[in-house]
Amino acid sequence: CGIVGYVGDRDAGDVLVKGLKRLEYRGYDSAGVAILNGQMSIQKGKGKVVNLEKLIKVNGVKGNIGIGHTRWATHGEPNDVNSHPHLSESGKVAVVHNGIIENYGSLKKKLSDNGRTFKSQTDTEIIAQLIEEIYSKSKDISFEQAIRLTLKQIVGTYGLAIVNIEEPGKIYIARKGSPLLLGIGDNEMFIASDASPIVEYTNKVVYLDDGEMAVVDRSSYEVKTIEDVSLTKEVHELAISLDEIEKAGYPHFMLKEIFEQPKALADCLRGRINPKKGTVQLGGVADVMDQIVKANRIVIAACGTSWHSALVGEYLFEYLAKAPVEVEYASEFRYRDPLIGEGDVLLVISQSGETADTLAALREARERGALVLGICNVVGSTISRETDAGVFTHAGPEIGVASTKAFTAQVVVLTMMALELAMRKGTITKEKAKKYIKELDQIPGKVEQILKECDETTREMARLFTYAPNFLYLGRSYNFPVALEGALKLKEISYIHAEGYPAAEMKHGPIALIDEMMPVVVIAATDHTNDKMISNIEEVKARKGRIISIMNKENSDVEELSEFSISIPSTYDCFSPLLTVIPLQLLSYYIAVNRGCNVDQPRNLAKSVTVE
Ligand code: G6P
Repeated sequence: CGIVGYVGDRDAGDVLVKGLKRLEYRGYDSAGVAILNGQMSIQKGKGKVVNLEKLIKVNGVKGNIGIGHTRWATHGEPNDVNSHPHLSESGKVAVVHNGIIENYGSLKKKLSDNGRTFKSQTDTEIIAQLIEEIYSKSKDISFEQAIRLTLKQIVGTYGLAIVNIEEPGKIYIARKGSPLLLGIGDNEMFIASDASPIVEYTNKVVYLDDGEMAVVDRSSYEVKTIEDVSLTKEVHELAISLDEIEKAGYPHFMLKEIFEQPKALADCLRGRINPKKGTVQLGGVADVMDQIVKANRIVIAACGTSWHSALVGEYLFEYLAKAPVEVEYASEFRYRDPLIGEGDVLLVISQSGETADTLAALREARERGALVLGICNVVGSTISRETDAGVFTHAGPEIGVASTKAFTAQVVVLTMMALELAMRKGTITKEKAKKYIKELDQIPGKVEQILKECDETTREMARLFTYAPNFLYLGRSYNFPVALEGALKLKEISYIHAEGYPAAEMKHGPIALIDEMMPVVVIAATDHTNDKMISNIEEVKARKGRIISIMNKENSDVEELSEFSISIPSTYDCFSPLLTVIPLQLLSYYIAVNRGCNVDQPRNLAKSVTVE
């Protein structure tokens, strides 16, 4: 979900709607605003922010202070009533909320027993009601205290923005487990759950940490702990610019981000590798490199696409640095009393740096004494701030819900880490390392070449397979995770059922699904498994499956066996995922567009999952 807030001279409706549009990638089941203008004006409803925009216009709502929300439903179906903001019974207090209140059932019962009636099925409504209940019970309690007492009673996670008609110039915000930041303008203030709604107005931001709240008016803000201790917070400067979060002529963010990969990867490599000298230097982990070298084991935890890059990382770390690595779903890792402690390393990977399960895995491992490292794209994100050390991917903001450039940039960081580790451990020679680093430097150019050469073929393939009900993706070795990623991309944005499998494992199940209707995408660009892959292709063809192959330029065997093939430039096997994934991103994109799907905002998904 996304939160935005504004107080200043501008039209709050305009700022909130614009901000919510920029946040829509975080959730788009419904949207709403509360604007104060002598009264409390609530405009909200199911569906996209454009609907909300019309509503605000039609109803002529004006005002200079307000809060807004775009929702990804957790409790209660996405409908008008369950949309945020939620009001207290008197209508004086409005709340927008990201996160989940776990004890909302018991609190709701208590409040209902006290005679309060509820309009929605959401957990959020109890916050507005409880604040009012506490506030109205005693004249000695300020509104701020009522919020504080409420926060002490609720169990769960929240990013909150609250307005009260009795304090028409103020916005209250609070954070526990769900990001919030404050943008400081000139006699105006902005609130948002990530920086994207703020960048066009100011680059001065304050990040709220867990357990903190703030009172904000147009010219000042005060950050305190929930225990009422005033804090002096550092003011950070935002590094992103407006054009980075706009489509720049592309029909979708996803396509823009796919085509941005040569630049994103070059940015990720910049200043970190020296191909002439054959060195890698990752400043963010320099101080802990000795500990990584000595680690008993390395666990990598992540979710979604980041989990796929972790799998590529496992192959890279083991092959290059001979380091034992296990990859875990963050959500599984944290709940199974993990065997991790002093002398171990947990590396978490997260584009957003806010994924709730990944963050929880990090905290669990840190508590158990492990060194905790991160690979994140968003500077200032919670995960990046809570890890002991880490490396930013520097891929630029990723807005499309389906991750593309963040994935390849994560793999580039993992490659650099594995190479640096290998050199420190002496598991590869200096000469070999130099060759790898030289090749890594060529990767952005090779990605560019693929984008030029395969755009048309992927469009053509997409035309042919637009209405296929199922897809199978097969890969081996480094390209097994790419098979998973290719299938995930297709599922996410085109709603076609797709499965990724290790090619040989196909014989143990998926082969039963293969018939003349089944497109099978084989990623046959890993030299050392090529012969085996060819046997797997034959097995598919014998069952009349339709072969689409991603292969090396030289590999005519694979080409002959394929109905469609896309060739990629040669590289080391261990770098091939950086190239093979590109045509798969494009294929899923064009299929989704042909099917009329909303590529950037696929149904039911959210860019950043800040609930467990
Ligand atoms: C969501 C997104 C995915 C992403 C995953 C992990 O499910 O839709 O694209 O891969 O979260 O996100 P993270 O920000 O932690 O990489």
